[in-house]
Amino acid sequence: MSANDRPSGQQPKTYDSAFLKACRREPVPHTPVWFMRQAGRSLPEYLKVREGIPMLESCMRPELVTEITLQPVRRHKVDAAIYFSDIVVPLKAIGIDLDIKPGVGPVVAEPIRRRQDLERLRDLTPEDIGYVTEAIGMLTGELGATPLIGFAGAPFTLASYLVEGGPSRNHEHTKALMYGDPELWADLLDRLADITATFLKVQIEAGASAVQLFDSWVGALTPVDYRRSVMPASAKVFDAVASYGVPRIHFGVGTGELLRLMGEAGADVVGVDWRVPLDEAARRVGPGKALQGNLDPAVLFSTPEAIETKTREVLDAAAGLEGHVFNLGHGVLPTTDPDALTRLVEYVHTRTAR
Ligand code: CP3
Repeated sequence: MSANDRPSGQQPKTYDSAFLKACRREPVPHTPVWFMRQAGRSLPEYLKVREGIPMLESCMRPELVTEITLQPVRRHKVDAAIYFSDIVVPLKAIGIDLDIKPGVGPVVAEPIRRRQDLERLRDLTPEDIGYVTEAIGMLTGELGATPLIGFAGAPFTLASYLVEGGPSRNHEHTKALMYGDPELWADLLDRLADITATFLKVQIEAGASAVQLFDSWVGALTPVDYRRSVMPASAKVFDAVASYGVPRIHFGVGTGELLRLMGEAGADVVGVDWRVPLDEAARRVGPGKALQGNLDPAVLFSTPEAIETKTREVLDAAAGLEGHVFNLGHGVLPTTDPDALTRLVEYVHTRTAR
């Protein structure tokens, strides 16, 4: 199926939403908006329903996932929902001993660094994540015309957590493995690509109308290393979901030098952080792709006037693009004022109404 046919099972009103049209580079009634990490600690209603429930456990409760996913749609009137989960959920589901520590991030009990460690990375099956299918079934019923974005962590970013054992600034163990044992590295990324592909397929088959691959930390690499050591695995993931005909978004932080390759890996939409203006990003990416981004999330801590000025700069840089999905350049920061997000959605909608 081509990306311009309606995927089977998708409602026409969802297919015709501003978000999915922008992803397909079709004319839109207004620039669609959603925010990475829109569900989460910036919302008091999120903190309330999460009280006393550990992060990973909350990802396995379909009713809670449904409620948390809907919260930012109700409050901010964003143009898309993003499925509430985490990039390490599929790793937990195959039995990797890991936890998400508040204020820290994912922590892996036994890092993966040797050939025999790969045995712990067994295939993911749809039965391992029945709660994902169940939650998305509930969600698509509640969302009506609002599209649901499914997501996964990309092989490099997942490998970084597995090899380092937790969050890392310099990714030194990861790079040591990548340069020192290219064969083991390729096998590790290939296994992660299969797990990631299954995680995305389950979400699409349950009703997600777009998917985003988060390669958050890939900006740590040179283009040469990216092309040789990472791109084949990310391309395998995109290939595996191509036949569904849902837009595929590819995002990373600090990826100014990688934007073209990230598009070439198989994305329909390339996510851009705030460091590269969107007109320049479009030149780097080349034709045939929509762009997503790219207001600096820290701008939301400024005055309403400054937020509008910086938002206008993003919209002006995007004015000549064929497809633009407005977003922040990275996730919503935890202490962001939720009202600033609501006002931002309204501002972008009003300012771009056609
Ligand atoms: O975007 C959304 O609203 C959907 C939910 C979502 C979460 N994590 C929920 C979450 C998404 C899309 C993610 C992706 C994710 N997780 C990424 C890629 C996105 C990015 O920011 O680059 C990464 C790198 C992770 C790993 C991870 N999980 C980190 C770094 C953290 C933060 C740790 C902390 O507490 O500072 C988490 C935990 C996490 N994932 C939280 C949420 C809402 C916070 C946990 C909590 O509320 O207790």
